[in-house]
Amino acid sequence: DICKYLKDILSRKHYKTTIVDCGREAIENVNQTAYDIVLLDLSLPDIEGYKVMVHIKQKNPESIVIIITGFASIDSAIKTLRKGAYDYIRKPFERQKILKTIENALENKRLRNDRKKSEVALRESEERFRNLVENSLIGICIIQDKKIVYKNREQRKILGKLPDSFETNSLEFLHPDDASKVKHFYKGILSGKFQTIETDFRFSPSSKFKEQVDVKWGQCHASTFNYLGKEAILVNMMDITRAKELEYLVMIKHKMASLGRVAAGIAHEIRNPLTGINSYLYTLEDICDEDTFSTEDIEMTKRIAGQIQTASNKIESVIKRVLDFSRPGTPKMVKINLNQSLSEAIKLSSATLRKKGIKIKTSLGDNLPECYGDAHLIEQVILNLINNATQIMSEKDVKKIIKVTSYLENQSLFVRVADSGPGVPVKLTERIFDPFFTTHHDGSGIGLSLAQRIIADHGGTITVGRSEWDGAEFSIELPLEKRIGPR
Ligand SMILES: Nc1ncnc2c1ncn2[C@@H]1O[C@H](COP(=O)(O)OP(=O)(O)OP(=O)(O)O)[C@@H](O)[C@H]1O
Ligand SMILES: [Mg+2]
Repeated sequence: DICKYLKDILSRKHYKTTIVDCGREAIENVNQTAYDIVLLDLSLPDIEGYKVMVHIKQKNPESIVIIITGFASIDSAIKTLRKGAYDYIRKPFERQKILKTIENALENKRLRNDRKKSEVALRESEERFRNLVENSLIGICIIQDKKIVYKNREQRKILGKLPDSFETNSLEFLHPDDASKVKHFYKGILSGKFQTIETDFRFSPSSKFKEQVDVKWGQCHASTFNYLGKEAILVNMMDITRAKELEYLVMIKHKMASLGRVAAGIAHEIRNPLTGINSYLYTLEDICDEDTFSTEDIEMTKRIAGQIQTASNKIESVIKRVLDFSRPGTPKMVKINLNQSLSEAIKLSSATLRKKGIKIKTSLGDNLPECYGDAHLIEQVILNLINNATQIMSEKDVKKIIKVTSYLENQSLFVRVADSGPGVPVKLTERIFDPFFTTHHDGSGIGLSLAQRIIADHGGTITVGRSEWDGAEFSIELPLEKRIGPR
């Protein structure tokens, strides 16, 4: 009969089959074994085929049920399809048809299994990432439509309880001195002017900044990205309060050390003339001890008085230089044309350079924007750098070139003064900016410290490196805008 016929064609395709004759037997079998496929005739001698189908599906939802039906019961076959049967085959059927349906069903099941597996894998990986982000030691939050839509544990710890809405005009937890900087960045990233920003700021972890509460330092990196199909800002944040405290301590230590060196410098400068004065005084004392004064003695006394005067003038000039250094005029900041200051300084030194056989090259950037500064002081800085280079190259038998370059980069103007001298030994690079540090026997060691002071007053930096001729290259950075906040 039909079952035997089916078993026969299926065995030939290496399917393992079991035949049962009635609904009850089918149910018993299904209870024991989870079949891949059940071929079920709807008209059974004992139970309605439909009920058997429901039972199979309940017992083992993964089993595929294919209904075999005569023309008369097509309606009920369709009903079973709705209840989860995979397909139905009408009697009489062809061998090819049944094999094809079974193959399709198995393939379908395999695909479903695969999909389920990848769904599980995806869920697991999502879970893993969520755990990673949630337990990260970096504060992470996502801002979308000016609202915080996600923040991890560390972020909640750093910023405390914050309003979820992140309007540019609120952000009241920021230190007033840093607020405008952060808001400027935030607006920039909202408007698409910046893609990423990196900044540090002070804040207090409460909804409103309170100086008396604990003020903290945060380092923040923010970038735009697509979150759930919409533009958002990913913010990474770190509590760097401790680092800032240490930085401050190191700075104080540095200052103390440098103060110590300054004191040593002053002591050294004053000791020589002082030793001179002392020995002159002894000689005077000797002369006074004599009973009578000869004209020679008087001459000698006069000479000694003159020498004491010179030595004391020297001491006075040291003191004057110290005072000049500690009280330089505050720069009168106006919009200036940097290249003009550079050209002026070059012009002033050109006579000396020519005399010493030093070639000066310039490469001044075209159309540089104006920057805030004191033209006179900047000129003084450049003169100092040119003088230093001139001095060191005159002492040594080296190629003699000085090159002055200016250019614009990242909202800052840069000036480089490079020379072809011997360069600054690496171990001295820190010290050359110290007041009174000099390697010249007649130098006072004030030039570079004054330059550094002036540039710092402009909100800029000055550093030393190697030039293309392996000499020294001093590099000055001047911000275009007046720097916001103390940095
Ligand atoms: N272009 C340079 N190449 C190599 N060394 C330099 C250069 N410029 C400065 N230095 C080193 O840095 C030291 C400090 O320079 P700084 O201008 O402060 O003082 P100084 O030139 O020695 O004295 P002053 O400028 O007060 O007369 C110099 O003594 C020198 O050792
Ligand atoms: Mg100098």
